[in-house]
Amino acid sequence: MNNKQKKIEVIGHQFVGKEEYIKRVFQNIAPYYDVMNKIMTWGIVDRWRHLLINKIPFQGGEKVLDVCTGTGEMAFLLAEKVGIEGKVIGIDFSQEMLQCARKKAARLKHPEIVTFVRGDALKLPFSADTFDYVIMGFALRNITDILEAVKEMIRVCKKGGMVFCQDISCPQNLILKAGFKLYFTQFVPLLGRLVDKGEKLCNYLPAYSWLPLSLQGFPQGEEMMQHFIDAGLQEGKYFTISGGIVTVYWGKKIK
Ligand SMILES: C[S@@+](CC[C@H](N)C(=O)[O-])C[C@H]1O[C@@H](n2cnc3c(N)ncnc32)[C@H](O)[C@@H]1O
Repeated sequence: MNNKQKKIEVIGHQFVGKEEYIKRVFQNIAPYYDVMNKIMTWGIVDRWRHLLINKIPFQGGEKVLDVCTGTGEMAFLLAEKVGIEGKVIGIDFSQEMLQCARKKAARLKHPEIVTFVRGDALKLPFSADTFDYVIMGFALRNITDILEAVKEMIRVCKKGGMVFCQDISCPQNLILKAGFKLYFTQFVPLLGRLVDKGEKLCNYLPAYSWLPLSLQGFPQGEEMMQHFIDAGLQEGKYFTISGGIVTVYWGKKIK
């Protein structure tokens, strides 16, 4: 039995073998990722990204890091904001997701603004105090150590810079919550069957069946904010979007 066939031991939304499993998930769904994202979010995923970007006080010329960039959708929006004098680096550990990002980057008017790098969010290959803004979108649920990931984002952010993180959350309103749970736990895996064909990965769940599970025990609101504060972020704030389906956390690195 090789590593990829080892049975996964599940403990809540974190589990032994999670990193290897997540790599397999994105290796499998990379070619469908963008289109499935649009279908599953009814096309509002881009609006969610814009709502985060609107919080960033861009002046042009900034150096920005998009951690867990995936297919680069957020990185491209950031590139428009930093302009020709700026620089955006998208980092991800999935070669397949990065391949999709690089293909799209080749069609940009100024592809030199964006660079995609393969690497681990838990060990960012950059010196301390490098970026004006450090962003992460829809990825914290996939990471094995939330606190470490946030610490890394803060480490590579310049003093006076800002860290932003956006992820799925569960609405507080009871009616919305019931609808969201039904949609996320029943409809999303069903829709996922179109592309994951129900194929188990690492002897665990098919790719799109992991999505609802990824929210189980995943901190949100004040609890998540506390992780950011514990990691060293200052002036931390957060706001919810679309009735609480998405939350954006952000703060400053002051010292
Ligand atoms: C749900 S996708 C989000 C992609 C993109 N940020 C977006 O908004 O569409 C999560 C991404 O996180 C990446 N990822 C998960 N854990 C990682 C880690 N430890 N280091 C680097 N990338 C990671 C996956 O490969 C995947 O591309």
